[in-house]
Amino acid sequence: MSNIIVLGAQWGDEGKGKIVDLFSERFDVIVRYQGGHNAGHTVYVGPRKFVLKLIPAGILRPGKIAVIGNGLVVDPGALMAEIGSLRASGVEVEKQLAISDRAHVIFPYHPLVEKLSEAREGRIAIGTTARGIGPAYEDKVARRGLRIADLLDRGFFREAFKTIADDKQTVLEAFKLGDRIDAGAICSQYEELAEMIRPMVTDTAQLLNRLLREGKKVMFEGAQGTLLDVDHGTYPFVTSSNASAGGACTGAGVPPTCIDGILGVSKAYITRVGGGPFPTEIHGEQGDAIRAAGKEFGAVTGRPRRCGWFDVPILKYTAAINGFDSMVLTKLDVLDGLKEIPVCMKYKLRGEELDWLPARIRDVEALEPVYEVLPGWEGTTAGVTRYEDLPAGARAYVEFLEAATGVEVGCVATGPEREETIVRPGSKLARLIGK
Ligand code: GDP
Ligand code: IMO
Ligand code: MG
Repeated sequence: MSNIIVLGAQWGDEGKGKIVDLFSERFDVIVRYQGGHNAGHTVYVGPRKFVLKLIPAGILRPGKIAVIGNGLVVDPGALMAEIGSLRASGVEVEKQLAISDRAHVIFPYHPLVEKLSEAREGRIAIGTTARGIGPAYEDKVARRGLRIADLLDRGFFREAFKTIADDKQTVLEAFKLGDRIDAGAICSQYEELAEMIRPMVTDTAQLLNRLLREGKKVMFEGAQGTLLDVDHGTYPFVTSSNASAGGACTGAGVPPTCIDGILGVSKAYITRVGGGPFPTEIHGEQGDAIRAAGKEFGAVTGRPRRCGWFDVPILKYTAAINGFDSMVLTKLDVLDGLKEIPVCMKYKLRGEELDWLPARIRDVEALEPVYEVLPGWEGTTAGVTRYEDLPAGARAYVEFLEAATGVEVGCVATGPEREETIVRPGSKLARLIGK
């Protein structure tokens, strides 16, 4: 058994939370390495539903260590709210959770600054989650951000915060946004929050490297998806961090040599929330029907998710960027009952064939998908737990995607519950999770 990264192969919401929760039974440590409370990972444990935002899904298994790595941006208020609701469900969060002292802090001025680009005429609105994620990463890269370690350093924090808050007020006034930053009140509120999280804060890179030396098995949980990665996604319609596999090492402080395997989580179709190009998007009634069948509404903002057909060039692209050893295909059950299932095999761009995402956003917008139409299947995949019990047509769909993408489908999810999952015996994935 090995250390693995589990991450999204498309635009997020692929079902990472369910899969990480399921596999975490076989790992000692589960680490989030990027993003913030823009993520929403839904996990069902029996009749209970959890929506995890900042805390890795491993927290739901007693005794597992859950780590919030240095690569995240943390809103301490959102974190405490999440801890509170987990505690109310009986999870012993303090015993299991470690928070990086190097993670950056989101302050109330970050969502205000976000309005500069999201809510003004003439600017490209990304359709963000409005959680201040982008502006917090901007401050990090501009070297004016404050980290959890700075927040816990009381004397230093007050001074540094006041200077930054003054700058943000100047920016808001220059852009005539009219919002006031009450630096004193925010400082006091954050000092209180700091004391609440202090017992869980540590140097998580040091902790992880020690645990790795001791032979503990670590799973890295991606948030968002590869096409929302700030470098490799459909820029500028992306988030502000590296959701792809490379982000795991920088966002956790571990060497690439400790990673033994990389699993891509992919839906059996595709969804996207927010703006940006989406070559295989299904408009009209059929899109609405898939949205209804898959309950495709954002876990964080409640927005309807845009739905589209499986896109082979995208999967080939994200497999190459990340080095997928295997893929987990989720929500196969949502396609039950369809007569035909189109799969995008390649694109046409101004008459030329393409099977890779171009860099220019106007080119991505202009891509015309070339479909191969597969037959649907009789019967249902919902809740099936053995590969051979899937309808023949559903197996043919899975095997078609494997052949077209060149990536093994090592696991198939057939429903939201833990049990509604098939791990294919003898697959690379089964070996990587020690099954
Ligand atoms: P994440 O952000 O990648 O963790 O995904 P989300 O939790 O935002 O969205 C995935 C949704 O699909 C959640 O509501 C899951 O409970 C649900 N889900 C996951 N796998 C399956 C599956 O195989 N079938 C069905 N019907 N639902 C699933
Ligand atoms: P999980 O981890 C789906 C999208 C937003 C927007 C863009 C930028 O649940 O898969 P941001 O607030 O990050 O600056 O928004 O990214 N987005 C997600 N879409 N799932 C997510 O997370 C997302 N996190 C951000 O909708 O288009
Ligand atoms: Mg989600």
